[in-house]
Amino acid sequence: MSEIIRFRNVTYSYSKGTPFEKKALDDVSFSVETGDFFGIYGLSGSGKSTLLRLAAGLAKPSSGQIILRENAKVGLVFQFPENQLFGASVIEDVMFGPSNLGLAKDNAKDRAQLALNQVGISEKLFDRSPFSLSGGEKRRVAIAGILAMETDVLMLDEPLAGLDPEGQDDLCDLLQKLNKEGRTIIVVSHESEILGNGCKNAAVLEAGKLKDTGSAKDVFKRNPAFAPVSSRIKSRLACMGIDI
Ligand SMILES: Nc1ncnc2c1ncn2[C@@H]1O[C@H](COP(=O)(O)OP(=O)(O)OP(=O)(O)O)[C@@H](O)[C@H]1O
Ligand SMILES: [Mg+2]
Repeated sequence: MSEIIRFRNVTYSYSKGTPFEKKALDDVSFSVETGDFFGIYGLSGSGKSTLLRLAAGLAKPSSGQIILRENAKVGLVFQFPENQLFGASVIEDVMFGPSNLGLAKDNAKDRAQLALNQVGISEKLFDRSPFSLSGGEKRRVAIAGILAMETDVLMLDEPLAGLDPEGQDDLCDLLQKLNKEGRTIIVVSHESEILGNGCKNAAVLEAGKLKDTGSAKDVFKRNPAFAPVSSRIKSRLACMGIDI
């Protein structure tokens, strides 16, 4: 499998050269393969969101490089993306991205419809105001907005935060489906959650430094605090001699 994104010695400081300078990332190096479902874990303030912002091209590393496979497009779904919906209707909101890429209206609409189908938003909702949707539906629409730009890598910052358990399950299933269809997924999380079960590979950040990376199974074993809840319960029971 080929590499789609490589972080090479990435360092980033906020407010560089001022008394408020803050090093958020410090010499971070790892790579993500095409088709991966990659989890980035770390405590609050460890630099996860900063890393995604850099990968999305919203800021440049202070030093080091982020190397994308040729022509690869990267899309970022921010934390609580539903707060950024603004279209008069669901379909118009999702059309915004492709229209901005210069696509004709019909083309942008086709892409928006496809993306909304992919995230399981029924056509009945296309003409509704996005603000009238449920929290889970709004989040799906926000994800469709990125999918409609046909990005190769879909990055999501804390995608399950604030959803109820059912909404979390549904969104996990959706991300798994998008990954099976060939999209590379990178998710950021600061707490153990069901999403970890779907990760193939993972990295852990600690105070801006890369603490660990490898297969998700190995990373969770070495960093049990970030292991998905089910595997933590399993290992606790195994310690008590109960094998499930
Ligand atoms: N705009 C900013 N100006 C100055 N410092 C910032 C800014 N944004 C983030 N930081 C600092 O950079 C560090 C990394 O922040 P970042 O948001 O990347 O962490 P995170 O791992 O995403 O945390 P969380 O899990 O709470 O979302 C933190 O110490 C944070 O205070
Ligand atoms: Mg964050």
